[in-house]
Amino acid sequence: MLTFDIKDKRLATFGKSRIEWAAKDMSVLASLAKDFAKTKPFKGLRIGACLHVTTETANLMLALKAGGAKLRLCASNPLSTQDDVAAALVFEYGIETFAIKGEDNKTYFKHLNALLDLQPHLTMDDGADLVSEIHKNRTDLIKNIKGGTEETTTGVIRLRAMAKDGALRFPILAVNEAETKHLFDNRYGTGQSTIDGIIRATNKLIAGTTFVVAGYGWCGKGLAKRADGMSARVVVTEINPIRAIEAMMDGFRVMPMKEAAKRADIICTLTGNRDVIDTEHFAVMKDGCIIANSGHFDVEINLKSLKKLATHTASPRPLVDEYTFKSKKRIFVLGEGRLVNLATAEGHPASVMDMSFANQALGAKFILDNFGNLENKVYVIPKEVDQRIATMKLKALGVKIDTLTQAQAKYLESWEEGTA
Ligand SMILES: NC(=O)c1ccc[n+]([C@@H]2O[C@H](COP(=O)([O-])OP(=O)(O)OC[C@H]3O[C@@H](n4cnc5c(N)ncnc54)[C@H](O)[C@@H]3O)[C@@H](O)[C@H]2O)c1
Repeated sequence: MLTFDIKDKRLATFGKSRIEWAAKDMSVLASLAKDFAKTKPFKGLRIGACLHVTTETANLMLALKAGGAKLRLCASNPLSTQDDVAAALVFEYGIETFAIKGEDNKTYFKHLNALLDLQPHLTMDDGADLVSEIHKNRTDLIKNIKGGTEETTTGVIRLRAMAKDGALRFPILAVNEAETKHLFDNRYGTGQSTIDGIIRATNKLIAGTTFVVAGYGWCGKGLAKRADGMSARVVVTEINPIRAIEAMMDGFRVMPMKEAAKRADIICTLTGNRDVIDTEHFAVMKDGCIIANSGHFDVEINLKSLKKLATHTASPRPLVDEYTFKSKKRIFVLGEGRLVNLATAEGHPASVMDMSFANQALGAKFILDNFGNLENKVYVIPKEVDQRIATMKLKALGVKIDTLTQAQAKYLESWEEGTA
């Protein structure tokens, strides 16, 4: 009998239709699924996946199922679940899913633990909450676990910190570190879907606004470029001097948040750090400033402080919270400060998730194939796998490229040839 906890069974048909729509742009994953269906690399294996429950994740689940895995899925963020997808996973595809959009923290951890009751051999995480829960409260499960995969920058940072402290008790494959993941998912995926989230939540015109991007990492670069393309005046804040120069030379103004906050119409953080927008910044913002976060956790905006400062709160639109100060100034927070691209839009388009999830699927296989030879460390996917995914994606996109001639390959490996 299937166990699950989802919002509404009646949404399943719509969810299936959207999952099939996403599949049209996920040909790398589809070709892996076809392969897995023949070779059954996950036969007899229990996989526990804590990921954003979206149409793209559904396609990853189907690929793993085709490979013989027994699966359970829960959400990696309380606000990122697409309820129709959760319903379809259970009622159309028979995949045990525990996720409801807007679930409170207690339910979020209840769902994580329901997934862990499967006693997984392999974990898939997005932000490392699952691995953290196992190491804190479910250590009895560790003896069965061969390893895990981690999707995002913040999760990889947490897991590397665990490995450094000697606390990590099984190997992890850092999907985020693959070039076919962060170069496209973080940059183009987060760039586009964050703008999408801000627009869907507010229906504001981006052109002509002063748009502040906090953090010029892979995600920040993507967002800044897209906001610029929509005719915003983009300002970047950073703490890393190299990235600050990069932002400047890419044509953006760079300044501390305290200065940027004074000018901003919209501010979005994507740093993976806490309190990037803090009390001193709320104090100098203009009336009507919109703030959002697209970094992994809801710690980037100090909402506790904002709540204390506000004399009145309201919700003028879904997932838009209005905080009014004594001076009558209003600040608007999108998606409760959780990743705005998933809270108020649909997350990344399928075409980039195709490569991210090809890395997840091959990452899981890497853990299995190398089981016994891996230490309790964070591993990066082998370069050849990354290249293979890129080659498959190019083929799917119908793009051909040149290949090295023998002479060129030799030239690139030799040190003798210099000035002719
Ligand atoms: N919304 C999504 O769908 C999505 C997708 C991918 C990654 N992420 C998350 O987005 C965050 C950023 O990921 P990334 O891959 O761009 O990471 P990154 O490490 O490439 O970039 C983060 C940048 O933020 C800067 N930074 C740190 N503290 C700062 C501060 N106080 N003020 C200004 N800048 C600061 C760092 O110097 C760095 O340049 C992470 O939490 C990651 O997990 C979200």
